[in-house]
Amino acid sequence: MSIVSTDKNISDDQRRQGLYDGQIYVYSPTPATMALCQFARDMCEEAFAPYHPEEAQYHLSVEQYVEILKDLKPNFIHHPKCKELIRQILDEKRCDLERTYFDVPRLRTSTSDQYLTSGLAYAFKPHRDTWYSTPQCQLNWWLPVYEIQHENCMAFHTHYWDNPLKNSSNEFNYQDWNTNGRKAAHNQGKKDNRRQSEALEPVKLEPEIRLLPEPGGMFVFSAAHLHSSVPNISGKTRFSIDFRTVHLDELDANSGAPNLDSACMGTTIGDYLRSSDFSHLPEPMLNAYENLDLSGSVPNLINV
Ligand SMILES: [Fe+2]
Repeated sequence: MSIVSTDKNISDDQRRQGLYDGQIYVYSPTPATMALCQFARDMCEEAFAPYHPEEAQYHLSVEQYVEILKDLKPNFIHHPKCKELIRQILDEKRCDLERTYFDVPRLRTSTSDQYLTSGLAYAFKPHRDTWYSTPQCQLNWWLPVYEIQHENCMAFHTHYWDNPLKNSSNEFNYQDWNTNGRKAAHNQGKKDNRRQSEALEPVKLEPEIRLLPEPGGMFVFSAAHLHSSVPNISGKTRFSIDFRTVHLDELDANSGAPNLDSACMGTTIGDYLRSSDFSHLPEPMLNAYENLDLSGSVPNLINV
C-alpha cells in the first residue's frame, strides 16, 4: 500500500515514522519554499538570459549549455542564502533545528527529448539514494522550480518499497566517488561513463506514483524509495531542487527505513550540516559510519 498525505498536520517525529514506513508527504507552498524557488528562478534566468531556462535548450549547443550549467549549479548549491532558506523551510515544517541536519540543495535539470542526459544533467534511472552511501534514515525533500507535468517529473516505483532489486551498490563507495566521479561530471558529453549504482535486472516500473506539486510546493520521501526521472518528452526542461535531511536520533541508533538490498561502502554523513548553526556531525560518528559494512547485514542481498 502506498500512502501520500497532503499538508498533514503532524509532528516531525510522527512524520519521520511515516516516512520510514514508506509514506510520502506533499506540502503546499509556504513563504520559505516560495523564496527558495524564486531564488533558483532568479539565478537560472540570469544564467540563461536572453532565453527562458525552460526553453534555452532549443537555442544553445550542448557545449554552450554545459558551460552554463558548470557555473550555475555550484553557484546555487553553495550560495549561503540557500542554507538560510533551508533552515527556514525545516523550521516551518516543525523540525528540531538542533537535531536535524541537512545537506546543501542540488539544482537539477532534466532536458526534453534527450537533448542532454549525461554529466551535469544526468537522467536518473530507477535507484534508491541508499545505494549511494546514505544512511537508512535519510529523507529527501523535492521542489519544482517551474510548473511541472507528468511528462517531466520524477516517479516512485512503489513495488520495491518492500521488495529487493538486484543492483550494483556493492561496487559504490561515496568517498571514492567524491575523489574521482563527481569531478568528472562536467567533462561528460553525450555519454556518461561514471560509475553509478544501478539496477542489474529489469525493473517493474508499475505501480508508479508521479506527484505534481505547484512551484513552491514540495514533497518529502525516504531515501530508500526506488525513484527515477521520467523520460522528459514535455518539450520543456525541468528544473527542480532537492535536499536531504537526517535526524540525530536515527543516526545515533543507525535506524530508519528497512534496508532490503543496499551494500555500498562509505558514507555521506560528512556532508550534513546542523540546521541551527551549520556545524558538521561529530568526528566519531563520521568514522563509525565510514567503516560500516552493510554487505553482511542485508538478508536479501543479491550479489552480482
Ligand atoms: Fe535520487
